[in-house]
Amino acid sequence: MKSEKTRGELRIRPFRSDSVEQAVGIHLAAFPGFFLARLGPRVLRILYREFAERPEDVVAIEARLNDKVVGVAVGPCRPGEFFETFVRRRRMSLAMASILFMLRTPASIPRILRAIRYRGEVKSGRGALLSSIAVDPEMQGTGVGRALLEAWCRGVRERGIEAAYLTTDRHENEATVIFYRRLGWEPGGTFVTREGRDMLTMTWDAASNIAPE
Ligand SMILES: CC(C)(COP(=O)(O)OP(=O)(O)OC[C@H]1O[C@@H](n2cnc3c(N)ncnc32)[C@H](O)[C@@H]1OP(=O)(O)O)[C@@H](O)C(=O)NCCC(=O)NCCS
Repeated sequence: MKSEKTRGELRIRPFRSDSVEQAVGIHLAAFPGFFLARLGPRVLRILYREFAERPEDVVAIEARLNDKVVGVAVGPCRPGEFFETFVRRRRMSLAMASILFMLRTPASIPRILRAIRYRGEVKSGRGALLSSIAVDPEMQGTGVGRALLEAWCRGVRERGIEAAYLTTDRHENEATVIFYRRLGWEPGGTFVTREGRDMLTMTWDAASNIAPE
């Protein structure tokens, strides 16, 4: 079935505002049960719109097959500044978008407050932050993720940034870690979140990765 779905020309290009709705759908499908997905589409919509609307601060890439978005890779060049501005500018809409979730699940409030203070800081992370990469589940394993991540790293380098990092689950996440390693990312430090989630930082260094032209 997958081969049917991959028929057509895969196009990689900057992520645009008119792709936000499709990106949100892919995120929800690719990260079921994860914090941002649980917060719901309204919060995701605000975040992805910010990624699309700040091309000077963010490297944001989309993959299209037959004119349908099938994957996205997004992340800020200077994470601290990006999230600071994001929270300040979108304070009201973020509060409105997450209020129902907070009322329904009061236990999540500390986690939400932590998200508001999140600036992408990780001990072993430097450079740009790959905030999210997600491929339509129907299309996973067909080369879309590779094309997206290579384009994202090229975008980082084109902005004169020589390093990048991401965080991912440390356990039961072998496929994802293999995916990043294949593309030249290395495991960095580890840390445990306040909720007790074991995390792994992975880093990418432009100098040791000759990005394909
Ligand atoms: C992780 C993800 C982005 C990878 O994208 P993808 O399109 O499935 O991956 P690709 O088909 O481009 O694979 C690229 C390379 O990784 C390897 N790889 C991908 N998935 C793999 C798996 N499950 N097991 C082993 N290797 C794998 C491939 O073999 C391939 O190597 P090659 O090009 O040398 O043959 C995608 O699967 C996804 O969206 N997963 C859900 C969301 C997620 O976990 N995002 C990352 C969170 S940190």
